[in-house]
Amino acid sequence: MSRLDSFIRRLEAQRACLDRAAELIGGTDGAVLELGLGNGRTYDHLCELFPQRDIYVCERQVAAHPDCIPPADRLLLGDMFDTLPAARDWLGGKVALTHFDAGTGDAAANLRLATGLRPLILPLLRPGGILATQQAMDGPELETLPLPDGVAEGRYHLYRRV
Ligand SMILES: C[S@@+](CC[C@H](N)C(=O)[O-])C[C@H]1O[C@@H](n2cnc3c(N)ncnc32)[C@H](O)[C@@H]1O
Repeated sequence: MSRLDSFIRRLEAQRACLDRAAELIGGTDGAVLELGLGNGRTYDHLCELFPQRDIYVCERQVAAHPDCIPPADRLLLGDMFDTLPAARDWLGGKVALTHFDAGTGDAAANLRLATGLRPLILPLLRPGGILATQQAMDGPELETLPLPDGVAEGRYHLYRRV
């Protein structure tokens, strides 16, 4: 598969999983948490999917398209290893959907990042809340959910907080 094909499939998988996550939390109150603003593509999609929900975004350095920058009071600016623990007091157990897309092309670094952040992400998710992530985050606190049709195993991951 060419790198172009792989890139397109990754984005298709990402969109399909976010759309599925929106269905899954349809009956669940709570905020949405975007981990990694990047250029704001998925944040913008989340804003379309969840116009009525509070959407918080973690990012260490904002470099997004100007139309895709969250309001200052929804932006957790800084390293997630600092901002996620600090958010626990007011956001703990209140997140209905977390989307984790903070990786790069470095698979080993992505694994370290996901492994390190996992224990900081879980306390924010409410029971029944959904985690959509490019990195696997399996473990006893998370039930693995089936992927949407057309999304290859391992390309994206959907979990429900037990
Ligand atoms: C792949 S990009 C996100 C792409 C975004 N979802 C989009 O659709 O445009 C990953 C982002 O995560 C951010 N990031 C990575 N590690 C981080 C950390 N430890 N703390 C805060 N932000 C981090 C990077 O600065 C980068 O902007």
